[in-house]
Amino acid sequence: MATLEFDEEGARQVERTYATPDVVAQRAQVLALLAPQPGERVLDIGSGPGYLSEAIADAVGPTGAVHGLDPSEAMNTLARARCASRPWVDIEDGDAVDLPFPDGSFDAAVSTQVYEYVADMPRALAELRRVLRPGGRAVVLDTDWDSLVWHTEDRALHQRVVAAWEEHLVHPRLPRRLAGLLRRAGFTVPEQRVVVLFNPQLHAETYSANTMELIAKFVTGRQGLTAEDTAAWLADLRARADEGDYLFSLNRYVFLATAA
Ligand SMILES: C[S@@+](CC[C@H](N)C(=O)[O-])C[C@H]1O[C@@H](n2cnc3c(N)ncnc32)[C@H](O)[C@@H]1O
Repeated sequence: MATLEFDEEGARQVERTYATPDVVAQRAQVLALLAPQPGERVLDIGSGPGYLSEAIADAVGPTGAVHGLDPSEAMNTLARARCASRPWVDIEDGDAVDLPFPDGSFDAAVSTQVYEYVADMPRALAELRRVLRPGGRAVVLDTDWDSLVWHTEDRALHQRVVAAWEEHLVHPRLPRRLAGLLRRAGFTVPEQRVVVLFNPQLHAETYSANTMELIAKFVTGRQGLTAEDTAAWLADLRARADEGDYLFSLNRYVFLATAA
């Protein structure tokens, strides 16, 4: 089954969703953990629309360097435009399992919401370790979809929708394995945190409002779900909001790793 496509429409959808205050707050936590310093060289693996590369560029300044890497040309176009006024940012085509950089090229690296799409995690983390200098640090963030709480009346339909949505990535429950995978790749893991996306109300500028439409589109035609089923699921969520008992909560987990 094909996973989510980051074509032009998919890239714009991520760009919109990742501009919501929920994901802005997530980025602030990732940046605080990464703590990029002036003059450092930082790699952003799966840089997507380039929000994080842009923020890291402001932290390292023109004496540093930021390399964003992503296999999606549509994402790279957005990221290049976003970072155009910072010539110390370079956005390149590439894949997490085959990083086009020499050993020890970076002081730090970050990868948020990317490894859950990468089938060969031992290889991706070996590449991450290889391109960091000894003592270099990495920050990795991914979602565990088992942490999803989303209030619906029709729980059976909701569970079918969530099961079909899990097909959008390779590893729907990667965070619980990440610390072990990082240690086996030659990292120490001094810090792990949870970042909660929490929407007690439904309004347009939330992660869940943006994501529900994407989910409805992705799951239609999968696991027997018809367009009527997904319309009913959306209507159920909107009815919860109309009745004043909307609730969405989802956990992302973030890991600070140090190259031993
Ligand atoms: C949900 S977006 C996250 C973008 C960005 N890291 C952020 O947090 O704003 C996922 C990104 O991972 C990229 N991606 C998927 N598979 C990848 C791979 N094997 N190597 C590198 N990036 C990949 C996609 O093209 C997409 O831009």
